[in-house]
Amino acid sequence: MSDVVGYEVEGRIAVLTIDNPPVNALGLAVREGIVARMEQAAGDDAADAIVLIGAGRTFPAGADIREFDQPARDPHLVAVIDRLDGIEKPIVAAIHGTALGGGLELTLGCHFRVASPDARVGLPEINLGIFPGAAGTQRLPRVASLDHALELIVSGRPIGAARALEYGIVDTVVEGDLRAGAIAFAEKILADRMNRRISSEPRAGIGSEDEFADVIQKYRDLANQRFRGQESPHQAIESVIDGLRMPYEDAVAADRTRFEACKNSDQSKALRYAFFAEREAAKIPDIGKEVTPREIGSTAVIGAGTMGRGIAISLADSGLSVTVVEAGQEALDSGMAELEKLYDGMVARGRIDEATKKERLGRITGAVDYAATSDVDLVIEAAFEDLDVKKGIFAQLDQVAKPGAILATNTSYLDIDAIAAQTSRPEDVIGLHYFVPANVMRMLEVVRADKSAPDAVATGMALAKRTGKVGVLARVCHGFIANRSRAPLVREATFLVEEGAAPAQVDKVLTDLGMPLGPLAVSDMSGLDVSWRMRQSLAGERDPEARYMYLADRMCELGRFGIKAGQGWYAYEDGGRRPLPDGDVEAIAADVAREQGITRREISDEEIRARCLYGAINEGAKIVDEGIAARASDIDVMWLYGFGYPRWHGGIMFTADEIGLAEIYEQVKAFHGEHGKLWEPSPLLERLAAEGGGFTR
Ligand code: CAA
Repeated sequence: MSDVVGYEVEGRIAVLTIDNPPVNALGLAVREGIVARMEQAAGDDAADAIVLIGAGRTFPAGADIREFDQPARDPHLVAVIDRLDGIEKPIVAAIHGTALGGGLELTLGCHFRVASPDARVGLPEINLGIFPGAAGTQRLPRVASLDHALELIVSGRPIGAARALEYGIVDTVVEGDLRAGAIAFAEKILADRMNRRISSEPRAGIGSEDEFADVIQKYRDLANQRFRGQESPHQAIESVIDGLRMPYEDAVAADRTRFEACKNSDQSKALRYAFFAEREAAKIPDIGKEVTPREIGSTAVIGAGTMGRGIAISLADSGLSVTVVEAGQEALDSGMAELEKLYDGMVARGRIDEATKKERLGRITGAVDYAATSDVDLVIEAAFEDLDVKKGIFAQLDQVAKPGAILATNTSYLDIDAIAAQTSRPEDVIGLHYFVPANVMRMLEVVRADKSAPDAVATGMALAKRTGKVGVLARVCHGFIANRSRAPLVREATFLVEEGAAPAQVDKVLTDLGMPLGPLAVSDMSGLDVSWRMRQSLAGERDPEARYMYLADRMCELGRFGIKAGQGWYAYEDGGRRPLPDGDVEAIAADVAREQGITRREISDEEIRARCLYGAINEGAKIVDEGIAARASDIDVMWLYGFGYPRWHGGIMFTADEIGLAEIYEQVKAFHGEHGKLWEPSPLLERLAAEGGGFTR
């Protein structure tokens, strides 16, 4: 009998416990176990009703995603679920943790559902490029309204137990011990002689497509809006529509074909890769689970500028107390006022209510003296991006911070080893590179300096999780993983404009790949002066043999800083943010090209794609080779969360593997010959191309 599904009888109730850590995924052994134990319970004269529950942290959180790359093996989950319809004894699903995907579908096969107050249920399949393929698109609309069913199916977002109760997805919420509550519920079913509720009924269908035209359109719009470029949300809707048109069995059969096509699509493969890449990023090869992160309760942020404010909000929103330190009272007052405005904006948009604003704002206090940081567990410096400024701050922090406090710098490219060297405790120093706006963007690049202690690094990663962010670890180098791997994309974009492409042409090629904005539009938003200042500060280290970004400098010399100046790579009218093509840019580019001896020419979209993308990939390969990233997939996670790279393409390194490294290497070599030193091929790329290998597989 099954090892992974336990069987006990308590009173007259058989309790089947799924025990397949960590998340009770519905792999083959579990599916077989459920069928076997259900048959056992059906034939057990000592049992009149059945409770199905999960051991450990959760009810099954879905099908076992790792099985998707293998041939399907019987019993298929649909068959397991359909079998429950025929069991004459009432079956109660007892839900705790997260009943997701196939897990929720399994509960729909049960005749009743009870849940813990903190349980969550959902159908997140579209995030994996598939849709609920175990009859969820047929059964859920028969249990909840079509509107609510489509909400779960198309949004992919789980809901809490209270909402599930309101939608009719669970029958009751059990306070206290779930197992005992579920058994009591089963006993009540027997006592009240309640009929089993079979969610494949009515079997003939549940209404007409016309009747639900508005609801269907609402979710088609949502799919287009939120999942631009993705196929599976649309397939999910079609599957629900099948259920309106056809009897249950026919719709389930149609689902099967549709599901297989989705599962085998490139989009689904990339999305599944992204799921595991994200989880892999949380693991640090030489820092195991035995390393305990330090306790963080109180924090301080140095600097109340845009970054400092965003970081303070992110910390306060996660329940941490924050002391914001500014150099003078005036700067502090204005920073705190801006911070409050950010919260006001959230209230105005209905994201939080006034009471929540008050509570969160109440966790943030201001100070003008570093002494205010003497008691906190974590200090994040978010001052001006200048090495000397940061060195000075760390020397001061070293004087006041308590022993064991983590001292973090929010630099995006500076040498953290040099910053740490200003302190007597470099083991406590790490980098925490937030992305703008820091309270919204989920990416957090945690930088491990040469002397960072393992538990300091683990604390940075734990902070990411606690504040709802995705932490990815990097080693120290100029720009770390994120900015270093993206720099070639921006560099090539500006070179291409110098050589004859229009900014809008360059940006369109990148948005056609699925990026939300092109690199030049992004530069206009963040300000061209930011990287100009960086280039100026590094002027002494410039390699005279490498091509230089003269055009980007010229734009800044002309005051074309981007949106804030009303002009950058595009023109902006009347203080607006809509980028408009600007002929002046072409004239400026032509001037610079002439000065540099570059003959302007027509540039193909294909060349733009290759230069922007392959430049980043080649740099990514160097980042892996040098050990700056622990693995290639970490770079991909950064691009997904930091730069809006389309998740259904996996990330730049995954994309490289899809294209084929031999092709990329040949092209990089050709660009090296044409454009010089910046295109030096990565030795790792060269080796893998020769071996027929890949970065991510
Ligand atoms: N299959 C295989 N492994 C899974 C899994 C799944 N469905 N869900 C989670 N895991 C693994 C993770 O890879 C991770 O493994 P490692 O420790 O080896 O890295 C481990 O379980 C723990 O996962 P998390 O680190 O994500 O833990 P968490 O507590 O932060 O989150 C969770 C738990 C909310 C369940 C989250 O893991 C999650 O969202 N899982 C995916 C849920 C999902 O998409 N379900 C639908 C599956 S598709 C389906 O069911 C198709 C169908 O219709 C038949």
